[in-house]
Amino acid sequence: MSNLKNDLFLRACRQEQVERTPVWMMRQAGRYLPEYRAVRAKSDFITMCKTPELAAEVTIQPVDLIGVDAAILFSDILVIPMAMGMHLEMIESKGPVFHKPIRTSGDAKALKKIEVEKDLKYVLDAVRLTKQELNNRVPLIGFSGSPWTLLTYMVEGKGSKNFSEVKKMIYNNPELAHSLLDKIADAVTDYLNAKIEAGCDAIQIFDTWGGILTQDEFFEFSHEYITKIVSGLKRKNEPVIVFAKGVYYKFKRQIKCGCDVLGLDWTMDIGRVRTRVNDKVALQGNLDPTILYAHKNVIAEKALEIMQSYGQGNGHIFNLGHGILPDVPPENAKFLVDFIKEASYEFHK
Ligand code: CP3
Repeated sequence: MSNLKNDLFLRACRQEQVERTPVWMMRQAGRYLPEYRAVRAKSDFITMCKTPELAAEVTIQPVDLIGVDAAILFSDILVIPMAMGMHLEMIESKGPVFHKPIRTSGDAKALKKIEVEKDLKYVLDAVRLTKQELNNRVPLIGFSGSPWTLLTYMVEGKGSKNFSEVKKMIYNNPELAHSLLDKIADAVTDYLNAKIEAGCDAIQIFDTWGGILTQDEFFEFSHEYITKIVSGLKRKNEPVIVFAKGVYYKFKRQIKCGCDVLGLDWTMDIGRVRTRVNDKVALQGNLDPTILYAHKNVIAEKALEIMQSYGQGNGHIFNLGHGILPDVPPENAKFLVDFIKEASYEFHK
């Protein structure tokens, strides 16, 4: 039994009875909130990640301001490559940049094995402080990137359009790609186990770039390593959510990774996916994040369509189909959350 005051999110992840659908938003701790920008104005992004007080403060903002049913730790997937020794720079208006990307087996050998308690102590301290400050109001989600999504950044060195460098690696030197993915999977497993140990109530694995692969490649280069991580987790009953953006096929095979929840992007039909997986896992999603630009009646209509598509019963966690966009009006985000809280009762009668 948890001592959380609001454990709707965890119950929905486990497909247990809930009286209404829980709701949170990917990237909810971020720039659309003026309160986030006020903290961010005083420190750069990496300093914020490395300062537990600041990370805890912005993690809790959407709980207080928007009323979401779960908090997600403010951090970044790229803390793993940083801990492995890569130098990260967050360039304003350009995003993350590694000036020395991994291209050869020599580069790969230079990556160090991480010691989570030492190299990523700042994340674990942020988890502990956030749990304390949340005071059991809502569960705290810890996350990591999937090995494949981390590899794309480590090899490309920055955001990419065609992913030419990482694709060259999987075609021309698949052994190197596999050995890197294996090394990253081990690091992520240790990292997520430490986050659970520090107090995270659930885990989400972001496979933001799973969808740039062919179907066979997805299972070979991404799913395989997600499976390795999930099977290596030491959990009491913390649920695992896997969000593989753009991976709209073979859902029954996808859930063999051992996840409790599959995260869906907005191109997927949540009701059809529910039928495909036959209620073996819970589903999270999947409102198009750009709907939050629309008038409130449109937001309500589209959100209701998703709940109707999922249908009656447990196992739905309402979310966006990807991260909330930085120029969305916060009142629209609040409207969505309030709407789900009111309108979802009728799906749980
Ligand atoms: O969801 C949350 O609120 C928790 C915080 C969170 C951040 N990044 C904060 C962040 C999470 C879960 C992430 C994950 C992340 N980071 C992903 C996977 C999820 C996804 O959205 O696909 C990826 C691919 C990254 C890498 C990353 N970090 C990029 C590409 C960028 C720049 C793009 C951008 O939005 O500016 C970041 C920076 C980043 N991570 C910001 C935040 C709030 C913006 C930084 C700022 O304040 O300037």
